Amino acid sequence: MIDNQIIEEIKSRNDIVDVISSYVGLKRAGSNMQGLCPFHSEKTPSFTVFTATQGYYCFGCGAGGDVINFVRQIENLEYIPALEFLAKRAGITLPDNMRKTEGGFDRNRFLNMNRDAARFFRECLFDENIGREAMAYLRRRELSVATIKRFGIGYSPDGFSALTKHMTNLGYTEEELIAGFLCGRSRKTGTLFDYFRNRVMFPIIDVSGNVIAFGGRVMDDSQPKYLNSSDTPVFKKSRNLFALNFARTSCADELLLCEGYMDVIALHAAGFSNSVATLGTAITPEQARIMSRYTKKVLISYDSDAAGQKAANRAIGILGEVGLDVRVLKIKDAKDPDEFIKKFGAEKFSELLSGSQGKFKYNMDSVLARHDISVPDEKIKACAELTAMIADIYSSAEREVYIGAVSSKLDIPKESIRSDIDRILKKKKREFKKQESQKIVRQSAGFGDRVNPDYAKNVAAAKAEESVLGMLVLYPEHRKAVADGKVNLSESDFFTEFGRRVFKVVFEIERSGAYDSGLLGEYFNPEEQGRIMRMQLARSQLSDNGSDVFAESVLSLKRETSAAVADASVDNILDIINDKRKNT
Ligand code: CTP
Ligand code: MN
Repeated sequence: MIDNQIIEEIKSRNDIVDVISSYVGLKRAGSNMQGLCPFHSEKTPSFTVFTATQGYYCFGCGAGGDVINFVRQIENLEYIPALEFLAKRAGITLPDNMRKTEGGFDRNRFLNMNRDAARFFRECLFDENIGREAMAYLRRRELSVATIKRFGIGYSPDGFSALTKHMTNLGYTEEELIAGFLCGRSRKTGTLFDYFRNRVMFPIIDVSGNVIAFGGRVMDDSQPKYLNSSDTPVFKKSRNLFALNFARTSCADELLLCEGYMDVIALHAAGFSNSVATLGTAITPEQARIMSRYTKKVLISYDSDAAGQKAANRAIGILGEVGLDVRVLKIKDAKDPDEFIKKFGAEKFSELLSGSQGKFKYNMDSVLARHDISVPDEKIKACAELTAMIADIYSSAEREVYIGAVSSKLDIPKESIRSDIDRILKKKKREFKKQESQKIVRQSAGFGDRVNPDYAKNVAAAKAEESVLGMLVLYPEHRKAVADGKVNLSESDFFTEFGRRVFKVVFEIERSGAYDSGLLGEYFNPEEQGRIMRMQLARSQLSDNGSDVFAESVLSLKRETSAAVADASVDNILDIINDKRKNT
């Protein structure tokens, strides 16, 4: 259990407006601040920061909580790393017992272990006996010593236990080495062996500069070409990008997204220090969101083969979804950016960048490549696909430009294309309206509620429950009344499972010392904390929060819950009767 004093200190030294302002442009709105929500795309601000209570809530998407939850959401961090992030920001040192990762490992030790391994690999690479071949390989690939050092590249020696021995001598345990994907355990003999052997090693470094994982490449044609760390207690593949630690400071204009480590390294060496790569997997929505925090524009520069182009098409969708402006680089006469730079030089790559195709032009080319437009049927199909694409574009000026392009490519008058598009747009508008109203109906009835799936089963009971919980979270005097037994309220009085959980946790925290929203992170994920924030907002709008109002709310909660339960049992009885009838 975390000490609430350290939480208080972290929160008091990290003013929520200061912290959020470094991610979101905030404007004063009454006594609060408002801005565009960083967690969903919107055009009018519904993201609100409450200066008095040091909380935030988005009335559009329901994200909310305190400064700790904000950092969890925006930096994609678990609870303790988020605390560490804020502690560091304020110059506070966290006590040792708070540095545990999932699986119970000491986070600092784990990160030190990775750094020590990276050092070992680097020493091996620069050792003239052990690393000669690896060094020759890297030099053959035209990496300078400066680049090798900058990226912390190393070499994992051949044999079975060079790293294992070294790390065990440093005092790391077998459990740590296995969980960190540095060692495996032999099924036959039960002894540890090095996971990476005879490979060139690329450390993966997070934005705080910690070594969190490794990728290792063979130096010949053997398989698998790369071996990567799987997820560990300090590493999630889907949430990290190779070289973002360097690129984050030079990507304000745009990020270059590549497929391979070697591409990124070659690009950085050639001066394109805004390049990153995924870690041996297709791009994930989480990675897209992370990129969108550092830049507005992403240039995909994947391999020129069919697989690369297919991956680029998928990436367009995922990056577009988080509101990034996406372009695709067509690499000609080379298989990937690395080879291109070697063959033609940095300047030519620069030219390629400035002439990079827009998303639309890229998509149009791929539609035209799939259809033979000298055949009328095919031409109609191509035209239909292209008009649908244009209809998806928000700006009408932009649509006009593409209408012109399609018109001349297909030799169809602009007016016909335009009227097709208008028809699609009208239909879209109708569908959008219908969806919106369905969404409102669903939301107000609580359907599709991921945080609290029981909500829809009895909205009245669930609402009563949220009022009571909101007041409990907000006011120490009400918590005291319940704890002292002055107000009779227990877990079973709540209708939804989520409500029961919130009640239980609030009193667990209350009993252990003093309640602080900053402690919720140990029990609830960021989304759930948004809901708890909503409960508080609903309450804080009431003018009177005195004990009478609270006692009254508790009574009405009990009434609603027992009515809901009674309803359910009537249903059960009817079911039983029906079953009996059927069976006789
Ligand atoms: N990759 C992987 N496992 C493999 C092959 C590839 O994890 N067996 C990942 C690596 O992250 C690699 C990326 O996919 O960097 C792109 O693969 P590829 O283009 O084959 O590698 P390059 O980085 O271009 O390496 P090289 O130029 O040395 O062949
Ligand atoms: Mn390559």
